[in-house]
Amino acid sequence: MKDDNKLVARETLKILIAGFIIFVLLGVVMWMEFRPEWKQYQKGFKKVFQKYIDPSSNPGKSASDVKQIYLPFAKRVDRCMTCHLGINSQGLEKAPLPYQTHPDPSITWLHPIERFGCTLCHEGQGFALTKDEAHGNVSRNLWPKPILPKELLQASCGKCHNPDLMEEDAPRLFAGKQLYKEKGCIACHKIGPIGGTIAPELTNLARFSIRYLLESVTDPTANDSNSIMPNLGFTEEKAKTLLVFLLSLDETYIPHEYKTVLQQ
Ligand code: HEC
Ligand code: HEC
Ligand code: HEC
Ligand code: HEC
Repeated sequence: MKDDNKLVARETLKILIAGFIIFVLLGVVMWMEFRPEWKQYQKGFKKVFQKYIDPSSNPGKSASDVKQIYLPFAKRVDRCMTCHLGINSQGLEKAPLPYQTHPDPSITWLHPIERFGCTLCHEGQGFALTKDEAHGNVSRNLWPKPILPKELLQASCGKCHNPDLMEEDAPRLFAGKQLYKEKGCIACHKIGPIGGTIAPELTNLARFSIRYLLESVTDPTANDSNSIMPNLGFTEEKAKTLLVFLLSLDETYIPHEYKTVLQQ
C-alpha cells in the first residue's frame, strides 16, 4: 500500500514536470511567433526614417507587415522588402543596411522593383522571412541558391541579356565570356549544343559551391586528382570573372517567356 502511494506520488511529479516543460516550450513558441526577426527590423526602420528623411513623421503603416511582390511568370514571391524597407525610397542612400536605398538608381529605374522583385538578380530565397534563410546562410543541401556575392552579381544580368552586348553595363560578364572563348574551354566542354563532349556541360552550375567551381578552374586536380583538364594558370580574380559568365548559364532560372512578359 505504502509502495503504491509512493509510486503514485512519483508518477504525479513526473506528469507535473512534463506539463511544466510543455508549458514553457509553448510559451517560447508563442513568444517567437509574436516577435519574429522581421518585426524587429521594422521597428528599427522608424528611427532610421526619422534620422534620414523627416524627424517629425512616422513611416507607420508603410513599414509594417510582410511586404511581397508576386512574379507569376517566374513562379516566385519575393518578400525581401519586409526587411529592406527603404529599397525604393529616396533619401536613404546613406542609411545602414538593410534600410538603404538600392544603390545605382539606373538599375532600379530600368528594372522597377514592382515588376522584377529581388531574386531575379540577387537570387536567395524570396519567400523566407529570416535573414539566414532569405540570404541562404543555410546548408547548400537544403538551399542550393544563396544570394550572389556582389563580385559575382553580374552573372544575373546574363540570364536576361546577351553577354556579348553588355561590355558597358556588365563589364565582368562580358569579360568572362571573352575569356571562355579565348581559352579554348569549348574544345572539351559544351554549353547547350555547342562544344566538346569529353567534359561535363557547363550549364546550370549553381548547384555547386562557389569554392568548388573556383577550384575547378584554378586548380583542376584539387577535386579530382586524375583530372585531364589543363591548369591554365588562372588567378582567383580571373577565375571569378569566368565564373560570372558560367553562372549566368542557368536553364532552371525562369521560363523562356519572361522577356515578353517583362516588356509589357
Ligand atoms: C529578416 C530580414 C531580412 C530579409 C527577409 C532579407 N534581408 Fe537582406 N539583409 C538584411 C540585413 C540585416 C542586412 C545587412 C547585412 C547583415 O546584417 O548581414 C542585409 C543585407 C543584404 C545585402 C547586402 C550584402 C550582404 O550580404 O550583406 C543584400 C544583397 C541583401 N540583403 C539581399 C536580400 C535579398 C535578395 C533578400 C530576399 C531574398 C533579402 N536580402 C531578405 C536583412 C534581411
Ligand atoms: C535588375 C537587377 C536587380 C534587381 C531587380 C535588384 N537588385 Fe539589388 N543590386 C543589383 C546590382 C547590380 C547591385 C550592385 C550595384 C552597385 O554595385 O552599385 C545591387 C546592390 C544591392 C544591394 C547592396 C549590396 C551591397 O553589398 O552593398 C542591396 C542591399 C540590394 N541590391 C538589395 C536588393 C533588394 C532587396 C532588391 C529587391 C527589392 C533588389 N536588390 C533588386 C541588381 C539588382
Ligand atoms: C529578369 C530579367 C533581367 C535581368 C536579370 C536583368 N535585366 Fe536588364 N532588362 C530586362 C528587361 C526586360 C529590360 C527592358 C527592355 C525593354 O524595355 O525593352 C532591361 C533593360 C536593361 C537596360 C536598358 C537597355 C536595354 O538593353 O534595354 C540595361 C542597360 C540593363 N537592363 C542592364 C542590366 C544589368 C546590368 C543587369 C544585371 C545587374 C540586368 N539588366 C539584369 C531584363 C533583365
Ligand atoms: C582538355 C579538356 C578541358 C579543357 C580545355 C577545359 N576543361 Fe574543364 N574539365 C575537363 C574535364 C574532363 C572535367 C571533369 C572533371 C575533371 O576531370 O576534373 C572538367 C571540369 C570542369 C569544371 C567542373 C564542372 C563539374 O561539373 O564538375 C569546370 C567549372 C570547368 N571544367 C571549367 C572549365 C573552363 C572555364 C575551361 C576554359 C578556361 C575549361 N574547363 C577547359 C576538361 C577540360
